Amino acid sequence: MDHFLYRNGALHAEDVPVAEIAAAVGTPFYVYSTATLTRHYRLFDEALSPLDHLVCYAMKANSNQAVLRLMASLGAGVDVVSGGEYARAIAAGFPGKRIVFSGVGKTVAEMEAAIAGGIRQFNLESEPEMRRLSEVATRMGRTVPVTVRVNPDVDARTHEKIATGKAENKFGIPIAKAREVYAEIARLPGLEPVGIDVHIGSQLTDLAPYEQAFTKVAELTHALRADGHDIRRLDLGGGLGIPYERSNAAPPLPVEFGDLVKRTVGDLGCEIEIEPGRLIAGNAGILVSEVIYVKEGDGRNFLIIDAAMNDLIRPAMYGAYHDIVPVVEPEAGAEMHPIDVVGPVCESGDTFTKQRMLPELHPGALIAFRSAGAYGAVMASEYNTRPLVPEVLVHEHQFAVIRARPSFDEIINRDTIPEWLKG
Ligand code: LLP
Repeated sequence: MDHFLYRNGALHAEDVPVAEIAAAVGTPFYVYSTATLTRHYRLFDEALSPLDHLVCYAMKANSNQAVLRLMASLGAGVDVVSGGEYARAIAAGFPGKRIVFSGVGKTVAEMEAAIAGGIRQFNLESEPEMRRLSEVATRMGRTVPVTVRVNPDVDARTHEKIATGKAENKFGIPIAKAREVYAEIARLPGLEPVGIDVHIGSQLTDLAPYEQAFTKVAELTHALRADGHDIRRLDLGGGLGIPYERSNAAPPLPVEFGDLVKRTVGDLGCEIEIEPGRLIAGNAGILVSEVIYVKEGDGRNFLIIDAAMNDLIRPAMYGAYHDIVPVVEPEAGAEMHPIDVVGPVCESGDTFTKQRMLPELHPGALIAFRSAGAYGAVMASEYNTRPLVPEVLVHEHQFAVIRARPSFDEIINRDTIPEWLKG
């Protein structure tokens, strides 16, 4: 469920007509709903109750400071994967004890910053990384809580680019090697193993792979405890999928995921952490764009719009489907025609969709890509010197620009001319 609905024939973001935002900020732009973000966070929070738990919002999905501030105010923790994301978490007001640091390639500088600023745990992904963290923590005179991300070799049945839990993926330590690795951690100074981390991929639409992975984690918990480790925290991923294509079967709900967690690991007495990004932010955002031209091609027509692959890369990168809806609600029974929706970037890959059935649209019409709140703005670039599009947050009848569109001068002045080229 989201808060982008037609009212009196006009698409609204909560209580604000989308066309009103377009008139104020210009197109294209992203708009996010506070109510949807809040609701999705709470669904997870409630799904894991009454277990001791922390929902650590994976900010990679949408790391705008206003979105982060909202999550922090709701009591969420946060999952970060870079020094930049760590700095964002601190700037948004997350206390260190609610920040989890994930990622396969943490640098010394990133480790130092997080240890100095406060950290709930590092999720370690390899032996060289754990030795490096031990050195850094010891040098700083600290002992840091860690988990090891185990790779359970489970097929998450999702897009190959976002599956992370198979042996062939770069993530984690093979689960069969985990006891050996925890034994080494226990010997290393500066590290305190507190739990186990697992993450098998993103946009999961089936609970079975989770069940396999969490069952293996439960077995490992017993084994590690028998080895003398105080395993008291489990960080459980796989990100639940969202219904991009409304005609498809709906993915499992957070409450069903919560029931599975309780069934598989609920009796271990561990604190449960999860790291959802997409399900919290995805359907909480849309990308709004204006039709520039309608071009009649040879046997197919093109809707040329002012958003492009640099603004929303998911269709070009993953062949992802995003629902497209006109901002003015089509008349009931309006005729639909197949059309390719494309951006102005000079690549054939700048095609959002081919032969999508849409009502007749004219230049100047506004359209919205649904489910664009996660992995939309964060993956945008300024390719073709197209400014990063603004982001807007709606709260009931109010809206605010939470990241402004840069001017051409701002973009150009980020570059510098070396002395020898001047004059
Ligand atoms: N935690 C870890 C360790 C992850 O690798 C990911 C996603 C998440 C949490 C958040 O997963 P989510 O709840 O969002 O599924 N750019 C791609 C998605 C990449 C996801 C990578 N890892 C896309 O647009 O579909």
